[in-house]
Amino acid sequence: MGRTGRVIVLDHPVAAHRVVTLRDASTGGAGFRQVVHELSTLLAYEALRDLSTEPCTVTTPVGVAEGRRVNETVLVVPVLRAGLGMVPAVQELLPYTDVAYLGLRRDELTLESQVYLDRLPADLAGRRVVVCDPMIATGGSLGTVCDLILGRGASHVQVLCLIAAAPGLAAFTQRHPDVDVACCAVDPALNAHGYIVPGLGDAGDRQFGPPT
Ligand code: PRP
Ligand code: URA
Repeated sequence: MGRTGRVIVLDHPVAAHRVVTLRDASTGGAGFRQVVHELSTLLAYEALRDLSTEPCTVTTPVGVAEGRRVNETVLVVPVLRAGLGMVPAVQELLPYTDVAYLGLRRDELTLESQVYLDRLPADLAGRRVVVCDPMIATGGSLGTVCDLILGRGASHVQVLCLIAAAPGLAAFTQRHPDVDVACCAVDPALNAHGYIVPGLGDAGDRQFGPPT
């Protein structure tokens, strides 16, 4: 892509308050999904400042105003399952979106992830892609996702993530230095099972229950 990716960590009381609710083991499914939605709105708002716009004029009740309208259709790619809960917020915020699904599952023992669903368009030439995945643990899943997206020609990849582990984020940015990442918090470590510590637990299970 020929540009250097940025890592943004949201630094705002409105986000910090919600991250505490997200982490809290006593937050139930409905509250967890609500906060995933709200934080996804804040992440997308912050991360998409450079969305393409064109000038326009609009007639107000008392005159004519100059303005800008978004003129870009973003491709939103949720990583199943956990990324699904982030999509509605991005769709509500942006005027034009398409959505394409990728499914990955991490093996609990090896921590290697396998792609089980690939509904990406074959040609992503020139597209801006927003990847939604709430967790970067080892960074392996996101690395595979970006291999697929960039391999199909996307011009710009923006990742929205709730919590990243510092070692996984470092491994990811080394593998994909041109990809932008926006997250709400960076935690220090992973435990022996590959969970982010202190993290929030299993983002998929907390939104949707245990996998079948
Ligand atoms: C979670 C999460 C990421 C991945 C992160 O998905 O949503 O995709 O783990 O781990 P990594 O950085 O070590 O690769 P999971 O495989 O648990 O699937 P789920 O969303 O269906 O629960
Ligand atoms: N996936 C999750 O949902 N949580 C973690 O802490 C790590 C991977």
